[in-house]
Amino acid sequence: GGAPAGELTDLLDLRGFPAAAQPPENNPLNVFADLGAWHAYGLPDAADEQPLGAGLGFSGPLYLAEEYPWYLSRAFTCFGLTDMRTGKRVDLRQDPVPRAHSVPGRLVQHRTVSGLEVTLTLCYASNRTALVTAEVRNSGSAPRTVRADWSGALLRHTEEPVRSAPQLAATGTGVAVRFARVRDHEQFLTTGQARFEVRHAEPVHTTVRADHYRSTARHARRLDPGERTLFAWTESYTFTTAERHADASTARAALRHPARVLARTESRWSGYLTRALERVPSHRRRAAAKAVQTLLTNWRSPAGLLKKDVITPSLTYTWFAGGAWAWDSWKEAVSTALFEPRLAAAAIEAMFDHQITEDSAQRPQDAGMVPDAVFYNNVRQGGINWNERNSKPPLAAWAVWEVYRRGGDTGFLHRMYPKLTAYHAWWYRNRDHDGNGLAEYGATVDPANDSSKERRLAAAWESGMDNAPRFDEVAVAANKDEGGRTVGYSLRQESVDLNCYLYAEKQYLARAARVLGRVADADRLLRERAALGKRIRSRMWDPKTRFFYDRALHGDPRTGAGKGIEGAIPLWARVATARQAAGVRTALTDEEQFATPLPMPTVARNNPAFDPTGYWRGLVWLDQAYFAVLGLRAYGYHRDARRITERLLTRADGLLGEGPIHENYHPLTGKGRNSSNFSWSAAALLELLRPA
Ligand code: GLC
Repeated sequence: GGAPAGELTDLLDLRGFPAAAQPPENNPLNVFADLGAWHAYGLPDAADEQPLGAGLGFSGPLYLAEEYPWYLSRAFTCFGLTDMRTGKRVDLRQDPVPRAHSVPGRLVQHRTVSGLEVTLTLCYASNRTALVTAEVRNSGSAPRTVRADWSGALLRHTEEPVRSAPQLAATGTGVAVRFARVRDHEQFLTTGQARFEVRHAEPVHTTVRADHYRSTARHARRLDPGERTLFAWTESYTFTTAERHADASTARAALRHPARVLARTESRWSGYLTRALERVPSHRRRAAAKAVQTLLTNWRSPAGLLKKDVITPSLTYTWFAGGAWAWDSWKEAVSTALFEPRLAAAAIEAMFDHQITEDSAQRPQDAGMVPDAVFYNNVRQGGINWNERNSKPPLAAWAVWEVYRRGGDTGFLHRMYPKLTAYHAWWYRNRDHDGNGLAEYGATVDPANDSSKERRLAAAWESGMDNAPRFDEVAVAANKDEGGRTVGYSLRQESVDLNCYLYAEKQYLARAARVLGRVADADRLLRERAALGKRIRSRMWDPKTRFFYDRALHGDPRTGAGKGIEGAIPLWARVATARQAAGVRTALTDEEQFATPLPMPTVARNNPAFDPTGYWRGLVWLDQAYFAVLGLRAYGYHRDARRITERLLTRADGLLGEGPIHENYHPLTGKGRNSSNFSWSAAALLELLRPA
């Protein structure tokens, strides 16, 4: 049976009207989107209903100007009613107990004013179109006649050319916003084809005056006592004319059968939640559902160079709203596969659509590599967010295997296997400076990697731990092919997490090979794995401090003497001996090291470089914390794993309440830091909520 809806309302506080067209870098307002639409909405702020006039509406929409989030309006569509007997507008603000809620898959508002009950519901009909319905019921004892109207205003940016980019226009079925072409790659990207369009189910007449519009129903409706009537309209945001035409029939169908769209949404969400919450204890169900909602709001459907559905890190953080990162996608896909395996598989394949191939004009030497981050526009189109200067940690085979295991099909495994093996081989061809079988993080040959400083920066990005102290002073070496040509760069340091991920990858690839009947591949991978395991256990383990560390290339001095959370990855990968695992466990459970009030900081508290607010220099990141928990479980330390899990859940600010899920957390206070509504934290949260 479906999850009971009542228990899962208002998982995340979605109230508030935007103050400006451009949200702050870290948007204080949470929003809701579904099906991968590129526009999102919030609930009104009860304390400030001014943008709604006498009407009722949702805040926003927030829309993506290809790569950046902007607000089109404070509340684009305010639904209003005129009482035809008195000729006066019904003031929907007069309800003494207005109710505005988010329920799974939709936003809902109720008002009862002078014998009229109004219920406004917003859900998504497609990946370009939201459907809004207003049900009006006559709860009085006399017949009523009402005429509906819809009004709103643009919210303009203060500066040109963004200021003048959107323009209202009346249409035969409602109102549209057309955009002027603006190619400001640092903040706003539109073409003349982009459009936001409101279409009504019934005939309306629209007037536009500067930045305000009003659509009025051509016909009034009469309601006998107890009778209800339904108004429906769609709100679509499309980037191209082709998209607009392709989506128009979906929008029209939604207008003809709004109840079907609502029913479909309800059953889809009830399926998500039934699957995602299956093993979650009852007092934690809301937190798990919030994680699901966070991942689904960050779902973006194909657009621009994103050819398949992706999950972005966060719709509420400027730089994370419109693109997909490699290792983010791997981690998000694994958890999303619990409830929406098709999206999970797409999110992986969308990244592999941009895997470098041998016929690449720019970087044939990187055949097999998956770029760090992909966006609507690539570098050749002027995009500044797309990044091929480096890759990201090799967790792709793990993700593919887990998605397959959790509900993907063999076809997916079949398609992915050759791509994964090409990616795996790339690390050894392009990132093993001395050919000793231990790889390094590094950088590509790229115009932006034009100095050793830039190469070192790209190499640190490749680790995913941008400013981790272990990379502070490390030099970069050029990797050459047989002809002496530079094919890439490596840090002069073999990283423990990287080699453990590759060790695990060999196992996952071997499993996939077995399923696909490639027995010889599987045997070879397992032999390589055994050899790699020996190297990790002997060369990356320090018997004195009983912990795993990155290792400087032969002849270099060791850098970054302190401990980092990457030293727990050998447990996650099951490469450590039981004795080594005991050493790591000691560090993870020591208050001076990783057992901080909020446990598992990325850098140990007694590491001289520890900085509790320093991004990868000491904040708690839930992916790494979860990997450490899995590592402890793998070696039988279940009590420690449970205790750490409980601390993470109860001490990370707002995690179990209605607050947004953050990118990372302060290890001493538990306060959320950096981006809100962060996808991989939501993914890790969902896993942590499921008992081992
Ligand atoms: C930051 C993180 C990196 C992550 C990216 C997107 O750059 O350091 O690991 O992939 O954001 O979330």
